Amino acid sequence: MQPSSEPDSRAYVSDLTLPAEIDPSAAPTPSPEDEGAILLTGATGYLGGFLLATLLERTRSRICCVVRGRTPEEAYSELHASLAARGANTEEIHRVDIIVGNIAKPRLGLTPPEYEYWSERVHSIYHCAAWVNLVSGYKFLRNSNVVSTTELLKFATFRRRIPFHHISTLGTIIAGFAEGWGVVTEDMRPPQPLPVGYYESKWVSESRVCQARERGLPARIYRPGAILGDSTSGFACTSDWLAQLTQACVRVGSIPTHNFQLPVSCADFTATCIVRIATEYAGPTGVFHPIAPTPMPLETYFSMVRAERPDLDRVPYDRWLDLVRTTYGPSSPVYQLSSAVPRFLPSPENGVATYASADTTLACLEPSPMIPPMDRNYFSRFLAHILSE
Ligand SMILES: NC(=O)c1ccc[n+]([C@@H]2O[C@H](COP(=O)([O-])OP(=O)(O)OC[C@H]3O[C@@H](n4cnc5c(N)ncnc54)[C@H](OP(=O)(O)O)[C@@H]3O)[C@@H](O)[C@H]2O)c1
Repeated sequence: MQPSSEPDSRAYVSDLTLPAEIDPSAAPTPSPEDEGAILLTGATGYLGGFLLATLLERTRSRICCVVRGRTPEEAYSELHASLAARGANTEEIHRVDIIVGNIAKPRLGLTPPEYEYWSERVHSIYHCAAWVNLVSGYKFLRNSNVVSTTELLKFATFRRRIPFHHISTLGTIIAGFAEGWGVVTEDMRPPQPLPVGYYESKWVSESRVCQARERGLPARIYRPGAILGDSTSGFACTSDWLAQLTQACVRVGSIPTHNFQLPVSCADFTATCIVRIATEYAGPTGVFHPIAPTPMPLETYFSMVRAERPDLDRVPYDRWLDLVRTTYGPSSPVYQLSSAVPRFLPSPENGVATYASADTTLACLEPSPMIPPMDRNYFSRFLAHILSE
C-alpha cells in the first residue's frame, strides 16, 4: 500500500522521499561466492547481541560491528560479555572487527579512506541499531533512526549494491490493528503510522528502504514484535518498555488490565529467523515477521507476572496509572511511559482482537524453525531476569 496522498502536517512527512543520490541502479552486486564481511549495527544492544551470536554461529564470515563512544578494546570486552550472557560461544569473537563510528553522521563518522576500505570488504549489512523510545517525538528520534538508515543505505550503494537487512518493528503497522484489519500479513502496510514518534521514525525508515529496493538494492525488512527473553535461559533486556512496566507493577503492588494482542517472540528465535531468512531464503519476499504464530494478550502477560508475584492486585488501567503517578511522580520516565500505553498499544475500538501474521515468514524456512514454548516455566525464567533489577 502506498502512503496517503492527503496533506499531512506531521513532522515525518517531509522525510518520506529517499534522497536521489542513493541510486544503486548501475552498481554491481557482490557475488554470492564473495567471502566478504558482514556489517552489523546495534551489536551492543539487546537484539543486536543475539544477532551477533547467531551470525557467529551460522556463518564463517567476519562480522564488522559499528559502535560509537567506545574504544575498540572497550567494545570487544562489552561484546564478549554480551555473548557470554547469551550463552554463546565467545571463542568465535576473533571474527569480530570493531568499527568505531556513528551511523547517524555522514560517512558513518568514518574518514574517507576508512569508508572506502569497509565498503569494499562488506558483502551484506544487518541494520539493527535504533533509538527504541516510545515516549519521545519524531524529531528527537529522527537522527538515530531515519538519518542513520539513510547513511547506511548510502554506504550500501556507494560502489556496489550490498544486500541490506533492515530491522524494523511491528509498531509500523499497529495502525492496521487499530483500524480493525483483522490479521495483518507481511505484505500489508497501513497508509500512515500511529502518531507515536518511534513508530513514525521506523515507518519512514521502512519507506526509505522500500524506495532503495525499488531503485535496485537487494533489501529486506524484518518486523519483530515485543522481543522477550532467551528461550532457554530467559536472559532478557531489563530496561525496555515491557521490563519497565513489569518492574513498575511490582513496585506499585498491582497489574493493570489492558486489551491488546501483543505479537511476541523469544529473542534467540527472532535472531535465528532473521539470520536464516537472510542467509538461506532465495525467494523474492521483501517483508518478514519473525514472531511466534500466536500473539499474547497483554492480559495474559500480566497474569504471568502475577503468577510469579501472587501478592499483586489486578486493577483497571486508570487506577494502576494513578498508583504509578503517586509512587514515581508525574514527571518520572516510568510514569511518562506508563501513561503512553494506550497511545502505543491502542485497544481495538470494536473490541475485536487483531494480530500480525507470521505465516509467510515461517513458510520461507525449510526446515521450519522450532517455535519455543512460552509457558509458565519460560515466564518464570524470563521474569526472574527482569525482576532481578
Ligand atoms: N526490543 C524490542 O522488543 C524490539 C521490538 C521490535 C523491533 N525492535 C527493533 O530491534 C532493533 C534493536 O532494538 P533493541 O531493543 O535491541 O535496542 P537497544 O537494546 O536499545 O539497542 C540499540 C542499539 O542501537 C545502537 N545505536 C543507536 N543509535 C546509534 C547511533 N547513532 N550510532 C551507532 N549505534 C547506535 C545502540 O548503541 P549504544 O550501545 O551506543 O547505545 C545499541 O547498540 C531496533 O531497530 C528496534 O527498532 C526491537
